[in-house]
Amino acid sequence: MPKKTKKTIIAGNWKMYKTLPEAVEFVEKLNEKVAGSTCETLLAVPFTLLREVSEKVKENEKFLIGAQNMNDASEGAFTGEISARMLKDAGARFVILGHSERRQHFGESDEFINKKVKRALKEGLRVMLCIGETFDEHESGQIIPALEKQLLGSLEGVDPEAFKSIIIAYEPVWAVGSGKTALPDDAEHEIAAVRAIVAEKWGAEVGEGLEILYGGSVNAQNAKNFLDEPSINGVLIGSASLNVDDFGKILELT
Ligand code: PGA
Repeated sequence: MPKKTKKTIIAGNWKMYKTLPEAVEFVEKLNEKVAGSTCETLLAVPFTLLREVSEKVKENEKFLIGAQNMNDASEGAFTGEISARMLKDAGARFVILGHSERRQHFGESDEFINKKVKRALKEGLRVMLCIGETFDEHESGQIIPALEKQLLGSLEGVDPEAFKSIIIAYEPVWAVGSGKTALPDDAEHEIAAVRAIVAEKWGAEVGEGLEILYGGSVNAQNAKNFLDEPSINGVLIGSASLNVDDFGKILELT
């Protein structure tokens, strides 16, 4: 698989954690480590932190700050929502879309996620699209059909060219925040299957070139098992990305 010739991506998702002073302290500590690493580091922060945090890392080409969600409309009377243009204006370089917590707690459908994906791409944001099977789908042998449905639904009508700006994060729902990871071999298998589905629909080159991460209870102790797999381009880390020493240790593995 081609991924070994490409850079590794280490991504963090802060979810609804950290105030500005906490975030600034974290990023100031991590900046040097990112500069000295061989990987690309992506950090998805709460909206309130975007401007200051992205300002702190702007000299560091390998350190990209992003958001965790957005609305699909360009602008409008949508109280409490945020647009892709606002995210870009605040310094975001990418946005996580379709995270399992948004699908579960906020009822986001593939159709809705698809609209957001298209809007984000149109506005020039990179998209990190999360997909993953539930525990029931996992137990009933429905992993690949579940992933295929989410992939094809969320990326419907997306141009093959646009895949340069798309990262897929494979995150089994039962592994997110549970302390249980997929077996690295299983993650490798599912990710190879995702690549094949994309290749079939959008062409072999798109499938091969696509950056695909594993996420779900990744930490400094187990990250290397995933990074060593041939089809896995990197990891998406939730709780272990909140601690600068833990996150820094994962960067050192690349
Ligand atoms: P976790 O979260 O690492 O805490 O399981 C991963 C994620 O939500 O992206």
